[in-house]
Amino acid sequence: MKVVIIGAGVAGLSIGWKLREGGADVLILERAQPARAATWAAAGMIAPTAETAHAHPDETPFARRSAALWPEFAAKIEEKSGRKIGYRRDGALMVARSEDEARQIASRSNRELLTADEARAREPLLGSAIAGALWDAEEAQVDSRALGAALTNVFVRAGGKLSVNEAAVRIEVGDGWLGATTPFTTHVADKVLVAAGAWSGRIEMDDNVLPPVRPVKGEVLALVPPQGALLPAQVVWGNGVYLVPREGRLLIGATMEEVGFDTRLTDAAENWLTDRAVSLMPSLANWTIDEHWAGLRPAAPDGLPVLGETSVKNLFVATGQFRNGILFAPAVAETVSRLILGLDAPEIRAFSPQRFGKAP
Ligand code: GLY
Repeated sequence: MKVVIIGAGVAGLSIGWKLREGGADVLILERAQPARAATWAAAGMIAPTAETAHAHPDETPFARRSAALWPEFAAKIEEKSGRKIGYRRDGALMVARSEDEARQIASRSNRELLTADEARAREPLLGSAIAGALWDAEEAQVDSRALGAALTNVFVRAGGKLSVNEAAVRIEVGDGWLGATTPFTTHVADKVLVAAGAWSGRIEMDDNVLPPVRPVKGEVLALVPPQGALLPAQVVWGNGVYLVPREGRLLIGATMEEVGFDTRLTDAAENWLTDRAVSLMPSLANWTIDEHWAGLRPAAPDGLPVLGETSVKNLFVATGQFRNGILFAPAVAETVSRLILGLDAPEIRAFSPQRFGKAP
């Protein structure tokens, strides 16, 4: 079976790897460089408790299942690529700044809330303006840039073909075949998977069945501490931002901006992120901004993932991961690769690509 995948992000690469393991002949078409869009921009939290506060009932179990798959997924990627990807299950603190917020955070878990003093004992950088915190020892993180590079390596070592700087602009539907047309040629395949993140709805088709995903920009900062200052020992969420210790830096994310495909960095975002972080951890005011970047999350109108076969036979989609592309990666890889290989896979109706009907 020949499969063409459009998009070499964390989803396309990991599904491609699983398809190779299942014996398929796989070509990934990437419009730029592999894992350099949302995957590269992601802060890499594997945070089913922190990220599913307002989740759909089908999304929470999917997030939990994926988080449970992560340790083995990470170990296999490291083993097969020979590279470290920084998977760490150090837990996360979800900080409340008022009693009201503390009640909301407490409802996410059956764990007991820490008092403000207990939270500061766990994370001494926290300031005085906090009411308590939820501590979840299961939350994890991975270095998404190292993950992207390692997954690319794993896919290619598994015999997958990757064509970079080759954007699929159109999908052809033939009699028993599908084609992905690029500026160079039409790649004919038995099955096509669109895993192009925020670009997934932008590929032309005569009868367009691709989901109407839109980009939601997130800007992120990385701070370096002054000499002698320690990084937090775990991920900290609070005041509308998250703080992720990684390789000597502290990542602060992220904005949620609906500005189309514009990824320009703004002073307003930089100020918003630093103000929020400093009011949570006052000493961060003395840290230095080392990097500022932006990425585009793929969001479906209902905010849910879009996974599975479209109404065109053999045309599949894996997009709409929104804020959870890294968290969902192992479960997306397992589910979508099994569907494409014609194996049993748990069907999640709420995630069906067929729920949107056809584009006008
Ligand atoms: N998962 C974090 C974000 O999308 O900003």
